[in-house]
Amino acid sequence: MATATTEPVRLPPALRLPKMVQAVLFLTALQYRVAPRLSRHYGGPFTINLPVFGKTVVIHDRDLVKDVFSTSFDLIERPTKVLGQAFGPGSTFSLLGKEHSERRKLVLPNFQGRRLKNYEQIVEDEVLRETAKWPEGKEFETLSTMTNLTLNAIMRATFGERADALDELRVVIPPLITLGSLMQRMPPIVRGEYGRWSPGSRLAGYRRRFDAVIDELIAEARADIDALPERGDMLALLLQVRYEDGQPISDRHIADELLTLVAAGHETTASQLAWAVERLRRHPRLLSRLTEEVDAGGSELRQATIYEVQRLRSTIAASLRTTKTKVRLGEWVLPADTNVMVDFQLAHESDVNYTDPETFNPDRFIGTTPPSFRWLPFGGGINRCVGAAFANMEMDITLRTLLREFRFAPTDAPDEGRNFRGVAIAPSKGALAVVYRRPQAKQSDRDSVAVADHSS
Ligand code: HEM
Repeated sequence: MATATTEPVRLPPALRLPKMVQAVLFLTALQYRVAPRLSRHYGGPFTINLPVFGKTVVIHDRDLVKDVFSTSFDLIERPTKVLGQAFGPGSTFSLLGKEHSERRKLVLPNFQGRRLKNYEQIVEDEVLRETAKWPEGKEFETLSTMTNLTLNAIMRATFGERADALDELRVVIPPLITLGSLMQRMPPIVRGEYGRWSPGSRLAGYRRRFDAVIDELIAEARADIDALPERGDMLALLLQVRYEDGQPISDRHIADELLTLVAAGHETTASQLAWAVERLRRHPRLLSRLTEEVDAGGSELRQATIYEVQRLRSTIAASLRTTKTKVRLGEWVLPADTNVMVDFQLAHESDVNYTDPETFNPDRFIGTTPPSFRWLPFGGGINRCVGAAFANMEMDITLRTLLREFRFAPTDAPDEGRNFRGVAIAPSKGALAVVYRRPQAKQSDRDSVAVADHSS
């Protein structure tokens, strides 16, 4: 792990270009081509200097990654500036130190183990609903379907099933997240409320509408307190949990946390699923094996495929940390306030970490779990993604349902590029697909209609 030190500063080699040029290279899609070249050129970590962010050391080596993720939060912590401010002071993204670890202890168990089973049916329902109108034999983009189904699934898992509340939240949450994340990258003066149509006023308006729905849902849940233990949604769970000193989470913090879960949990998963479609259509043999496995009731290859899609097409680019004091990290000495960027693409494409790293080969993960500190799509350490197990379940159920219901036509079109959409990286053409409904799926649809007709 990194340690505090008084040694003279020794940063990894720095890119000698004006800050603005570095911004163009690293804050746009160019970074996916530039970072591997720089890494090869310097043979290890390197330092970049970006406007607003400042000096940033880019790492991917397994030992340094392990050191960063296992260092105490007294020395290195996750910056709270961007996402924290967008979701509010009660969000996990805004909390630090002891307050942050206490919150994680309350939130994490609800997204793991037995609890996940409760959400599986929600996901399958949403997949069937969103794909019901998919055209056959005609190319279309699948990313918007993935976005709708992951938004609906995480909203039902988070807020419960009251349809009118979900309808209002479906209108309010997308602009709240998009505008909120965008505004936090702007100078403070732009964020003010200057008349009805200014971005600051519109953001505040969406937030007021969001809070009004949450207040109503909380009041309603408290009015029927005996029913709370039976409910599986996050709002009900967060109302019941207590910190070690017996205190509940305040209502305002619950609202911030619920917004965080929806925001962190849908565009990421949707983009990852879109990448799965993009990869599978370019690997017909794998597609057939996966379909055979689904028909036989298996899941091992599907799980390995999810790991491999996440390895070669991570939807989040990096974990970011900041030094709080001067620290020694491996052979380097970083002054206080230096950013450390754990670059997922570099780690995932490194031939030190993987054999034949650039080949898409899910079989590498058959019978094994991804290696620690070398497979990083969910980050690591005390900030590792709270929703990792939930996202994995959601991707598994979605792919299982899609493969059972549809035949995806393979393609020899060039790979889709990487498109950064504000939070997540998605396929540049939205993961184009051509599908045909599978005959047995047509049959099962007819059966369910017949059952429905019979029972009505
Ligand atoms: C494929 C889908 C997802 C990916 C790739 C992903 C990735 C990540 C990454 C890279 C981080 C930062 C970790 C770090 O700084 O080291 C993170 C944090 C987080 N994610 Fe996810 N995520 C996904 C889905 C979800 C879902 C479904 C939820 C909620 C249900 C969620 C909730 C969170 C939260 C609350 C944090 C902040 C954790 C903390 O700072 O303690 N994520 N995620």
